[in-house]
Amino acid sequence: MTLTTQHFGVNIPVLGFGTWQLKGDDAHRCVEAALNAGYRHIDTAQAYENEQFVGRGLRDSGLKRNDYFLTTKVWTSAFHEDDLQESVRQSLSRLGVDDVDLLLLHWPNDEVPLEETITALNDARDLGLTRHIGVSNFPSAQFDEAVKLSRAPILCNQVEYHPMIDQSVLLENANAHGSALTAYCPLAQGKVFQNETIRDIAERHGKSPAQIVMRWFIQQPNVIAIPRSSSEAHIQSNNDIHDFALEPDDMARITELKSLNQRIVDPDFAPDWDMPLAA
Ligand SMILES: NC(=O)c1ccc[n+]([C@@H]2O[C@H](COP(=O)([O-])OP(=O)(O)OC[C@H]3O[C@@H](n4cnc5c(N)ncnc54)[C@H](OP(=O)(O)O)[C@@H]3O)[C@@H](O)[C@H]2O)c1
Repeated sequence: MTLTTQHFGVNIPVLGFGTWQLKGDDAHRCVEAALNAGYRHIDTAQAYENEQFVGRGLRDSGLKRNDYFLTTKVWTSAFHEDDLQESVRQSLSRLGVDDVDLLLLHWPNDEVPLEETITALNDARDLGLTRHIGVSNFPSAQFDEAVKLSRAPILCNQVEYHPMIDQSVLLENANAHGSALTAYCPLAQGKVFQNETIRDIAERHGKSPAQIVMRWFIQQPNVIAIPRSSSEAHIQSNNDIHDFALEPDDMARITELKSLNQRIVDPDFAPDWDMPLAA
């Protein structure tokens, strides 16, 4: 079963497969395994240095190009007009596809005017290199700016989101624009597995903590989650979440964990993040 969320008329599978840190044959094997397990959305990036192997996984799955949703991200060193398009052409050649479904700016880059980069992103779309465009790691004010500058809809903001971080501002912001919020590090890189509340709910449902968290994601509107795993058993079970539901009380207990507000990805080039809304 492929659940989707619709934004600007585009159906995006709400469960995607993340490929950060999957290198070489592991990326190939895991992407193929994810597609065989029923995932229909794959997330990669120029910076992951695995597009060539992701492409092999796509091909070996035997699926047709229109049967899956493919995202890649442009690194910040290619944010000037011609650089951006050239870098995307190289991505497409590594991936072995004619276009991607979604092309994201990986991080904001204050050294290049946003207007120039958003124009370049739109031009890449007009040239047929990507079907849709979006951004990643954009605070709400910069997201507003990107929307204003763009001719085409900004389909999503891909940001860190899991039960233990407060992303209320970005959720509201994406909603207000009709965009999706794509959750990266949806399992908090494994930190969710130690949480007592999540373990307790998992035990009660006879499911794994990862399945509880993935279920929490797919029961939220306008949210997409892209867990990564190098284990075929985990890849399978993270998507095997359609035979149970979380009650409103479970959903609320998990959502309350946002007060822990533990951010994992915060490099020194990160923008000034939005502060949580006052309780
Ligand atoms: N836009 C950005 O700047 C950005 C930044 C970070 C990430 N991302 C994207 O988001 C994706 C996901 O984030 P992430 O890779 O950082 O972390 P994640 O998906 O939150 O966690 C991955 C970790 O969880 C473990 N795991 C997965 N399923 C499990 C299960 N069922 N049981 C036990 N352990 C399990 C994996 O180990 P095993 O391999 O052993 O299963 C791995 O160590 C990335 O791959 C990437 O595509 C984007």
